[in-house]
Amino acid sequence: MIAPSILSADFARLADEADAVTGDPGVGADWLHVDVMDAHFVPNLTLGLPVVESLLRATTIPLDCHLMIDDPDRWAPGYAEAGAHNVTVHVEAADDPIMLAKNLRAAGASAGLSVKPGTPLEPHLETLKHYDTLLVMSVEPGFGGQSFLPQVLDKVRTARRLVDTGHLRLLVEIDGGINADTIEAAAEAGVDCFVAGSAVYGADDPLRAVQALRARAAGVAPHRWSG
Ligand code: DX5
Ligand code: ZN
Repeated sequence: MIAPSILSADFARLADEADAVTGDPGVGADWLHVDVMDAHFVPNLTLGLPVVESLLRATTIPLDCHLMIDDPDRWAPGYAEAGAHNVTVHVEAADDPIMLAKNLRAAGASAGLSVKPGTPLEPHLETLKHYDTLLVMSVEPGFGGQSFLPQVLDKVRTARRLVDTGHLRLLVEIDGGINADTIEAAAEAGVDCFVAGSAVYGADDPLRAVQALRARAAGVAPHRWSG
């Protein structure tokens, strides 16, 4: 799956920018990744619920909301209630991530848990049993266009093994620095869903960039673990 990040799009033309990656089913983007930043959890500030609500009315692509915010326990369920397909919160910010996952699911979204590059998975394995997606950050959250941190692929491999052996049931997503040069290594490690901002919206033809990334990832046979 490919999820273009609108962080690298033109914020004054978000509906057009969503259309630019839509294409026909199976051809265009699978999800549209929406980076919500509050200038507290991360140093940058982007957009919030009113913009997401407008975007939901303007596009048919499922929205993948990545909340880089403090106090997600309080704010994240609103994105699920608005109709976001997947709502991801940071484990470093959540007070009660298991209760939060339940609230997100009860509000009709799938629940995602994200880890910053320096955050290990092991302390959170029980928590992850309550989540539908794991978002492994491959840059420090806050800005698009940074370089991919290959050391986070160890976490992807761990998650892939736990999913393949039935200990977790979730989709493994990666975010940060994904482009034509890095997507194959991520695919090989076992990523299911690739977020790409600058590699898609920095391209002359965003839809073709989505297709090219998907083709590269699909050309890799990831290592699969057996139980
Ligand atoms: C960074 C965001 C990413 C960002 C990725 O904090 O979470 O989603 O848009 O941008 P690229 O693909 O340019 O690294
Ligand atoms: Zn993101």
